[in-house]
Amino acid sequence: MNQETLILGIETSCDETAASVIKNGTSIESNVVASQINSHKRFGGVVPEVASRHHVEQITMVVEKAMKEADIDFTDLDGIAVTQGPGLVGALLVGVNAAKALSFAHGLPLIPVHHITGHIYANRLVDKMTFPLIALVVSGGHTELIYMQEHGHYQIIGKTRDDAAGESYDKVARTLGLSYPGGPAIDQMAQKSQQPVDFPKPMLHDESFDFSFSGVKSSVINQVHNAEQRGKDLSTEDIAGGFQQSVIDVLVSKTIRAAKSFQAKQIIVAGGVAANEGLRQSLLSTCELENIQCSIPPIHLCTDNAAMIGAAGTIGYLKGHRADMALNAQPGLSIERF
Ligand code: KG4
Ligand code: ZN
Repeated sequence: MNQETLILGIETSCDETAASVIKNGTSIESNVVASQINSHKRFGGVVPEVASRHHVEQITMVVEKAMKEADIDFTDLDGIAVTQGPGLVGALLVGVNAAKALSFAHGLPLIPVHHITGHIYANRLVDKMTFPLIALVVSGGHTELIYMQEHGHYQIIGKTRDDAAGESYDKVARTLGLSYPGGPAIDQMAQKSQQPVDFPKPMLHDESFDFSFSGVKSSVINQVHNAEQRGKDLSTEDIAGGFQQSVIDVLVSKTIRAAKSFQAKQIIVAGGVAANEGLRQSLLSTCELENIQCSIPPIHLCTDNAAMIGAAGTIGYLKGHRADMALNAQPGLSIERF
């Protein structure tokens, strides 16, 4: 890259309103995230209408702040990248419309971004991506193993057949009476566990690269309900510890097997569940034993943010991906057809 590429990234697919300026796809010039978690907490999950309203209220300020912190003007930008999907349609629409308006007003290219490619490219903000690679995508809505031959090329080689990993964390947390979002709460509890409860490890020895998390989730829920009915005391720490161990063992074992069978030069981890301390430790130590290079972004880049959208958008920009004023939010956008 001879010339500097400056991209404004915008992300509103779920419950964070975010904008960021990224230089050359690797350097964060600004990264502003307005989280709505406190508004959704009392409902135990994200309420789509509440999310859309917050995005509308926040988006202008968040973009202005990102531009100010980067200390640039719109004339300095090369393009505006925005999450087109997947996500909540009403939430996505706010970002898409803001990006369209800014692109039209300033005559800047508009670059549509798939949210999961954003999570994957969060890694490029901290580490070099070495191809071919295997990306383990673990978020609230997705659990996938993706093979990447080169920049901007995504092949799904395995996916969950039911719940996403993050979704199962959130549901188990709710059963244990922990607050939303459940992942961080279970992660902390699990670290205090002395005798983790033994839960099933679904599809651990299955030949495919697919996952299934609804069985282990139901097993936790059943044990908790049975104990409640019998008035038996259960250790929340040990339930959390056992559940986390099951999920991690399956994720780590399948990711390593995928890397070996696709002769990947690197494993990268993407999505909110990549913030999980147990998963990070287990994957890093297994990769070290197996002599496979492993990259996991710092925690603030694992959960939803716009820096990752700017990073993925830079690849889209350089590949010539452009959208026009007809761009629409697509809640079920596929990564392979992107
Ligand atoms: O990627 P993300 O921020 O949003 C989506 O695109 O879905 O992921 C959110 C998910 C939630 O299910 C949340 O519970 C989970 O990531 N999560 C965690 C941790 N931090 C967030 N799961 C396990 N351990 C964590 N430390
Ligand atoms: Zn996400």
